[in-house]
Amino acid sequence: MGFIDEINQRTNLQLLVNQSMKKHTAYGVGGNAKFFANANTVHQLNVASLLCKKYKIPCKIIGNGTNILFSDKGYDGLVISTKGISEIFQKGNKIRATCGVHLKNLIDYTLEYSLTGVEMLTGIPASIGGAVYMNAGAFKHEISENIIEVESILDGKLVKRYKDECQFKYRESIFNRNKEIIVSATFEFKEANVKEINEKVQSVLAVRKTFQPTGKSLGCVFKNPDKFSAGQLIDGLGLKGCKIGGASVSEKHGNFIVTDSTATATDVLELIELIKLKVLKEYKINLKEEIEIIGDF
Ligand code: EPU
Repeated sequence: MGFIDEINQRTNLQLLVNQSMKKHTAYGVGGNAKFFANANTVHQLNVASLLCKKYKIPCKIIGNGTNILFSDKGYDGLVISTKGISEIFQKGNKIRATCGVHLKNLIDYTLEYSLTGVEMLTGIPASIGGAVYMNAGAFKHEISENIIEVESILDGKLVKRYKDECQFKYRESIFNRNKEIIVSATFEFKEANVKEINEKVQSVLAVRKTFQPTGKSLGCVFKNPDKFSAGQLIDGLGLKGCKIGGASVSEKHGNFIVTDSTATATDVLELIELIKLKVLKEYKINLKEEIEIIGDF
């Protein structure tokens, strides 16, 4: 039995062949994945990733596709979306959200129950899996703040870790270091006045609208280097508006690259390389990507 037969038999996943990554990532660029599947259960996610190992097929788990740049040459393996694994469970002030839950849905849920803790992350277009994996953050807050426990898959086994075992740092966790698959995260929130939570949501949205672009982007492209803002450094070099093909540095924020309908992944990568070169030359700072770059360019 081969890979496709075993996937069909053991997971019941519908394998799509040669699926364009344009539809599954925020930039709308990238080539085809050899295989693509929408997982609806953790079992499917686990078995499919194990079968990839068995058949030596690369496997990439994606959430909302808002932090990933796939090469125009595509991905010679299986891409699995977790969007279909989307459930929220509540016990008092504790909420467990599975990997495919959109962060916005979690924030809406907390608002409904007058719980405070994640509203400062409003506007990050992430899934819980993606956000926890990279410890997403904004406005001096991070998703890890209210986490008490995370479930993940490591080498086919379900692992439960308390927060202090997750090694959360700025845009980092044990999960992205080990390339584990996030299954769910449990948060503990405090009760608060819903009007006040909503006011914070609205103020974050207003700041984002003023200082960050609304077009196609992957959010900030680079991590902030120690003591600096990457956006400010890039802006300082006059790179806002700098364009390669259909990719340009946002006029609103130097750390965002926005794409138009003609853009390719290569345009984005070339612009990234250009920015890194200029920042290194002028400031002697090595910018590190916050986004994930997948495949051969
Ligand atoms: N600035 C400029 N020019 C620019 C951009 C920023 O002068 O083009 C200045 C701002 O005026 C401000 C300072 O740089 O004085 C910091 O800018 P900002 O508040 O926008 O914060 P940031 O460090 O650039 C970080 C996160 C964002 C998050 C904002 C909101 C990183 C890499 N970025 O940006 O997160 O939304 O704070 O507080 O940590 C992301 O991670 O994808 C992301 C967008």
